Amino acid sequence: MNITYNDELKDLPLEQLHKLFIAVGWSDDGEMSEELKAGFMQSWLNSTMVVSAWDGDQLVGAVRVLSDTIFRSIIHDLLVSPDYQGQGIGKELVNRCKSHFPDSEWLVGCDKKNTGFYKKLGFQNTLETGEFLVIPCKLF
Ligand SMILES: CC(C)(COP(=O)(O)OP(=O)(O)OC[C@H]1O[C@@H](n2cnc3c(N)ncnc32)[C@H](O)[C@@H]1OP(=O)(O)O)[C@@H](O)C(=O)NCCC(=O)NCCS
Repeated sequence: MNITYNDELKDLPLEQLHKLFIAVGWSDDGEMSEELKAGFMQSWLNSTMVVSAWDGDQLVGAVRVLSDTIFRSIIHDLLVSPDYQGQGIGKELVNRCKSHFPDSEWLVGCDKKNTGFYKKLGFQNTLETGEFLVIPCKLF
């Protein structure tokens, strides 16, 4: 399978991106409100970096990063289409992010079931360095 990657494009096609969110269970398949659509797109456009994976013109994976580009970087919304998981696409998306800001600290919040994936990429539990605390988003 010939997967290509794009480290420049932030304006991902909304419909395909939404389908990816539905496919991994992060969104229901109802029509998004105009307000939610706008917020959803802004969250990607306003991210410091977006890396996407493509099979031809089909979006099959994506990740976005918020970063000061030097010291601190946070990974958000890493997702690979279920049909394409287990082929190294998630790893390549994260490694591409890391390569852009190679000296930065990297943080990610994830389900317990995905900690093994991130540990393979060099992430450690924050409990070793201090806890990661959160105030949840009020919009969803
Ligand atoms: C988590 C996710 C991004 C992984 O993407 P992927 O393309 O399937 O993963 P890769 O094929 O790149 O896997 C890289 C390595 O991690 C391993 N791995 C993948 N998922 C894993 C998991 N959940 N736990 C432990 N190891 C895992 C793979 O076996 C592979 O190991 P190898 O390098 O020794 O062969 C993908 O499963 C996904 O999109 N899940 C749904 C959305 C999600 O939960 N995203 C994470 C948000 S925190």
